[in-house]
Amino acid sequence: MRRVDCDPNFWYPVAWSRKVRPGKAFAARYAGHPIALIRPEHGPVYALEDRCAHRQVPLSKGVVDEEGCVKCCYHGWAFDRQGKCVTVPYLNREGVGRPVRAYPCREKDGLIFIFPGDAALADHVPVPDVAQVGNPEFKTRTFSPRLKCHYTFMHENLMDMNHQFLHRRQMGSITARFLGQDEGEGFLEARYSFARKGGNQPLAEALIFGRHHDLQGREQPVEEVVSIRTTYPYQTLKIHDKDGDLIMDLWACYLPLGEAQQVTQAFGLLSVKKPKWAFLLDLAWPALGLFTHRIFEEDREIVEMEQNAWRELGGDHNVEVFPVVRKLRALLAASGVPNKAVLPVA
Ligand code: FES
Ligand SMILES: [Fe+2]
Repeated sequence: MRRVDCDPNFWYPVAWSRKVRPGKAFAARYAGHPIALIRPEHGPVYALEDRCAHRQVPLSKGVVDEEGCVKCCYHGWAFDRQGKCVTVPYLNREGVGRPVRAYPCREKDGLIFIFPGDAALADHVPVPDVAQVGNPEFKTRTFSPRLKCHYTFMHENLMDMNHQFLHRRQMGSITARFLGQDEGEGFLEARYSFARKGGNQPLAEALIFGRHHDLQGREQPVEEVVSIRTTYPYQTLKIHDKDGDLIMDLWACYLPLGEAQQVTQAFGLLSVKKPKWAFLLDLAWPALGLFTHRIFEEDREIVEMEQNAWRELGGDHNVEVFPVVRKLRALLAASGVPNKAVLPVA
């Protein structure tokens, strides 16, 4: 499974919108393919292969002209949004320069997506809905860490809530109870509830869940339901309170950077329902960021160690006992495509 690549026939986020400024080009990457994102002063952003058709210099180093074309920094060949070479300045004749590949490109919810596969399919595949961006009842934070591991480790790590032991210093002692699962074409969902066995509830967590005390002030079991779903190739974690209302919504996509797909750029958005006094959430926002960052760093260390062991041993020699993770592996293996990397590179 760690040699299965992401299926390129989906929309993948490759950059945050705010990073690609008007009149500028930006270098991104999908599975070893360099991508130039170009945002003209007017009109939508577009994506080209980030290699000039002349001498393969990155177009992302070029300049964006008034027509919205990108001009290579070396000899000034200009390419339009279809990748057609429209000018070779020193020849001044149509049709001399060869084109570069253009990728279907969309912008949504603060992310720029490209469709790296068969462009003819792009219109038939939906651009995903991303957390609760744009929903005024939620406040959303974004993060995009780079991880030295195959994307499949990320799916497993989030889906498998039985590793709360790892996070005991951040969350205190809580245990997950598996409530059930759902599966279907291209998706798998696992649901859990959590019970606190000891330690105090962290403040940031209390803000999301609220505190749970009985009339005597004793802490009560948490009744929220946490649902983690891999809807290939994306993943979500949603928390519903005991009335069934959504209170937290995490969306993530794991973008493979290298050809062997062993380096991953995660794009994540975490939406938290605003409490009645919304400023409380604003006040707690930095603490919440630190809390989620610490948890994430613990997960990062783990998935990178898993990847290292895989590399040293040349495969997974482990015993997976949790049926949900076994199902997730089957889903990821069946949904992806065989890796074609010839070099032992990341
Ligand atoms: S390398 Fe791009 S114009 Fe020559
Ligand atoms: Fe974790």
